[in-house]
Amino acid sequence: MSQSRGQWSSHLGFVLAASGSAVGLGNLWKFPYIAYENHGGAFVLVYIAAIALVGLPIMVAEIVLGRRSQCSPVGAFRSLHGDRPGSKLWAATGLLGVLAGFVILSYYCVIAGWTLKYILMAVSGQLGTMVSDGTFNDFFGPFLANGPEQTLWYTLFMGMTIGVVFFGVKGGIERVTKILVPILFAILIAMAIYATTTEGFGRAMTFLFRPNFSELDTGAVLEALGHSFFTLSLGMGAMLTYGSYMRSRDSIPKAAVTISLIDTFIAILACIIMFSIIFTENMEVQKSSTILFTTLPQIFFKMPGGSLITGFFYLLVAMAALTSTISLLEVVTSFAIDELKLKRRQAVMLTGGSIYVFGLLNAWSLGANDTLTNVNLIGRESTAGVLGTLDYLASNWFLPVGGFLIAVFTGWVLTNKSSREEMEKGHGPLPWYTGWRALIRFVAPLVVGAIIVSVILGAEYQ
Ligand code: TRP
Repeated sequence: MSQSRGQWSSHLGFVLAASGSAVGLGNLWKFPYIAYENHGGAFVLVYIAAIALVGLPIMVAEIVLGRRSQCSPVGAFRSLHGDRPGSKLWAATGLLGVLAGFVILSYYCVIAGWTLKYILMAVSGQLGTMVSDGTFNDFFGPFLANGPEQTLWYTLFMGMTIGVVFFGVKGGIERVTKILVPILFAILIAMAIYATTTEGFGRAMTFLFRPNFSELDTGAVLEALGHSFFTLSLGMGAMLTYGSYMRSRDSIPKAAVTISLIDTFIAILACIIMFSIIFTENMEVQKSSTILFTTLPQIFFKMPGGSLITGFFYLLVAMAALTSTISLLEVVTSFAIDELKLKRRQAVMLTGGSIYVFGLLNAWSLGANDTLTNVNLIGRESTAGVLGTLDYLASNWFLPVGGFLIAVFTGWVLTNKSSREEMEKGHGPLPWYTGWRALIRFVAPLVVGAIIVSVILGAEYQ
């Protein structure tokens, strides 16, 4: 299998593709709004601790499993487990990952599609007109409920994703992420420099970096932990699959640390940019979950060169989302290649095509179709509609359960010798290997187990 298996052409190629997977709507849309809701400071610290103590060790584990097995998730668990009893159960863990990729991609592309609409509206001047005559206030709701529009942007975004994955690991994914990820950095850094010149910058920094632990509750801690999974693309085999394309002469620990740092840095930069301008304008945030789509455009337009800035900004979000959707589709596709023995191009058409059809249910569940909009199996406000339900299932169940099983498998099933060998390959002796092993055997399963128990008891984090 390994002969025809794709491979990144360099360490940088892997790091950029994996960072592209990690950096996405989770960083630019979700993190700023949950940081805002949880009062910044202390929440940001807990989030950083969650990344370092749970996210990073699990990321290392996923890459180790992928490179060691040279397989996509299902095959990885199967082959690393060998013939011991329980092997089917572990293969099912891989299958859960594939299912999670399927589900997340089907709704992630709907949200990502909105950014395309915003780019078009910004550069055509339409957004500017709506902001100045006030009609923008009534834009978002009806836009979501507009079936044909939702279908159009969703179709486009899914099409772009399928297009990239079609051309494979080196020719598609690596080529696209090598261009998009550096541009994304450049635009973000330029915007952050601009933010330092605004009046609200000082307040934004205080908000983000002066912790006040009396404002922190258990819910916030769980939310930080849960989000650390989503933002690093963990718990469903995305990093495992990307890791399986990694060259044996490259260092896994180095890559994992770099990817985690980049992801955290970008989430915080996004907050600095958004909060600086929100505080400068003294904007009232009505609904924090839509800051990105309702509050920000209004502020951007007050800046010199508003349409251009807005256009660039949504282009940035679109690029970040695309490098993430690619990784989601790649997991399902590589499963089809390995397990159904399809050629890549057939596999992409089959997986991308079925996810696309399924995802239409999400696109029409925001008001376009009554039945799809009103189903609510879980019964909470945020789980209304197909999209709300699937997001709840994926973020609260699939990813934590997948992450828990990955940690247990790596810590308790994979032998000490195999994991050490894989981690030192391309790196050399690792003095803190024992530290990592303790985190993956004890800390990660305990902490992630606690998230799962709290979800069972009814807590919700998104
Ligand atoms: N990490 C991405 C973000 O922050 C989303 C994502 C891509 C993801 N691939 C994933 C989340 C795999 C969980 C699992 O937007």
